[in-house]
Amino acid sequence: MKFSQALAALAVVAMCGCKAGTPSKTESTVTNEVKHEVTIGGKDVKNPIAYTPNAAKEGGEHFQHHCQICHGLDGQNTGVPFASKMDPPVADLSVKDVQDYTDGQLKWIIENGIKPSGMPGWKGILEDEEMWNIVHYIRHLPAKGSLGAPPIFKEEEEEHEHMHGAAGHDHHDAKPDTH
Ligand code: HEC
Repeated sequence: MKFSQALAALAVVAMCGCKAGTPSKTESTVTNEVKHEVTIGGKDVKNPIAYTPNAAKEGGEHFQHHCQICHGLDGQNTGVPFASKMDPPVADLSVKDVQDYTDGQLKWIIENGIKPSGMPGWKGILEDEEMWNIVHYIRHLPAKGSLGAPPIFKEEEEEHEHMHGAAGHDHHDAKPDTH
């Protein structure tokens, strides 16, 4: 289980072919406008599922299964070590640029992904209803950092701390010291 998760994370990083360097500000703005106006479909498609806290919660469960490896549990990249190193970086889903999309556009992005960036499409993997619930989750993200890091990255961190004997966290497993 742990091993296959680690493999999945590796595959994710390899898939993105993480290039160094960030696009210039103008480049990003132009790309953004093109994305919002031209590339991303579904603008006028309405979310067929009415918002309820439960719909967002269900969407959150799917999100924390499929998307957390890049977007973090909270959709704001918390604890994802490579998020800012991808080109383009993994989007923080709480920012205005993302929230400015219509529900239909968000669903379209989830379904089709964004090529050629690292954002994969989920057609055939997620049901329509699941994607719409995820849209509700994206609209109602928890406070940044409130859910901690995805377990796979957290384990790494804790192991690291342990190795260096700098275990200063109270959530740390208390193991008796052996010499
Ligand atoms: C392999 C890593 C990865 C996974 C897994 C992933 N994403 Fe992304 N996502 C990205 C990257 C990278 C971007 C930034 C793409 C860009 O700006 O072109 C992104 C961008 C987005 C955006 C914003 C697009 C924009 O134009 O700003 C949304 C919404 C999104 N992802 C939702 C999701 C959802 C929902 C899932 C799970 C079903 C998911 N992502 C899974 C990497 C990932």
